[in-house]
Amino acid sequence: MLTNLYHKDFISTEDWSVDELNAMVEAGGELKRRFAFGEPHDHILRAKTLFMLFFEESTRTRNSFEAGVAQLGGHGIYLTPSATQVGHGENAQDTGRVLERYGHGIAVRDCRTDIGQAYQYELASHIDIPVISMQDDVDHPCQAMADLMTIREKFGDDLRGRKFTIAWTYAPKYVRPLSMPQALVMLMTRWGMDVTLAHPPGFELMPKCLDAARKHAAENGTKFEEINDMDEAFRDSDIVYAKSWGPITITEDPDEVQAMCDKHKDWITNERRMDLSKKSSIYMHCMPIDRGYEVTPGVVDGPHSVIYDEAENRLHIQKALMALTMGGRL
Ligand code: CP
Repeated sequence: MLTNLYHKDFISTEDWSVDELNAMVEAGGELKRRFAFGEPHDHILRAKTLFMLFFEESTRTRNSFEAGVAQLGGHGIYLTPSATQVGHGENAQDTGRVLERYGHGIAVRDCRTDIGQAYQYELASHIDIPVISMQDDVDHPCQAMADLMTIREKFGDDLRGRKFTIAWTYAPKYVRPLSMPQALVMLMTRWGMDVTLAHPPGFELMPKCLDAARKHAAENGTKFEEINDMDEAFRDSDIVYAKSWGPITITEDPDEVQAMCDKHKDWITNERRMDLSKKSSIYMHCMPIDRGYEVTPGVVDGPHSVIYDEAENRLHIQKALMALTMGGRL
């Protein structure tokens, strides 16, 4: 297992090799085993600090990072722009260079379109301690890695030939970022799976992420297709990952977004569609879920659903990430 990842940033899975990402999954499995058996592992980050800067809300990300760093013997500090001088415009250089005098890693959630990921690379360019993306406008690398870990637990390490479907679903209320589907098409095409992306016209992902997915598929001799038919996407799938995202490449105006979404209320994950997938298929969603809109109760709480396993694996994969990059011993 590779262990020379000390101080390596994790802003996108695109910045890590397959061997490096495999090391994270292996370490995550080892830490999950130790957690299950109650074996102490709080020496790994003893007295080390992770600063967690959130520009947006979170349930899973904040709590899994905070619990995770504590279990490794360290401490997580929850920050927001309004609780820091970031809210008054202090720049990435000054914020980063001060925080690195106090601690050992900085994690950021910033989903502002065309700003979030760029802010993290800017931060990383000024400091030596690792910068970790807790989701941005382009990628959600920790969630995607927890999902990969979950898929490998269900289907084994050799995923070649498995059909992975990411499908858009309808949801009301607020504009969801593109980073989750983008993270999935960029990562899963590197693991030998045939990836199908389905959405109504107007809900396209960022061109650079689609290009990355096409490149990975070509390099790995696998398939990456983009279609506008939800039924066709579900047919014969091994993994169905169906969630809502906004038409952000066209508009972020809430009224325009809602009007575009409202034309496609029939894009829901239901029992009929799950029956088109393989009998052994799994239903995935990163959560939070708009129950009754994105998915029927029978599917989300039914036998195909692995949503809580995915959420749990956020803890284990992030502990592995912090252990490897913030300097400890497994
Ligand atoms: N999946 C995920 O990132 O959840 P939160 O928004 O609750 O952190």
